[in-house]
Amino acid sequence: MEEKVEKQYILDMIGKYSDTVIDHARNPRNVGNIPNCDGFSQETGECGDTMAIWLKVIDNKINNATFWTDGCGTTIACGSMVTEMAKNLSVEEALKIKAEDILNALGGLPEDHAHCAALAAEALRNAVKDYIDTSKFPWKKAYQKKNSTA
Ligand code: FES
Repeated sequence: MEEKVEKQYILDMIGKYSDTVIDHARNPRNVGNIPNCDGFSQETGECGDTMAIWLKVIDNKINNATFWTDGCGTTIACGSMVTEMAKNLSVEEALKIKAEDILNALGGLPEDHAHCAALAAEALRNAVKDYIDTSKFPWKKAYQKKNSTA
């Protein structure tokens, strides 16, 4: 985003969003793909925005989680937060993360942006399920396209 446009965008967020949302929107953590990941999902939300999540799993724990989205700043904040929340959890614990947990961790979102958290939660859940499915049928991994650079 062009610096001037980004500055205005952030200024527009002040007062409407928590400091945590603004921080994660401005400085998103865990952006990008994971080569040879163990779990992957790309989901499209009700607004048409997309979020992808990549997971690295070691000894049943989420060793690394990354995301990419073409959505707005709020969606970026949700992707950043959900990947931070998932790291170091067991596969089973990560599967339990809900939109509400992301909203709480971000200090809330305006109602018209609550669906951004739902998109992030769905992307994480399906990436974890992808890991579970792939670990049951390891031969499937060779046929899956998980490493596209978003
Ligand atoms: Fe589309 Fe947030 S505005 S997911």
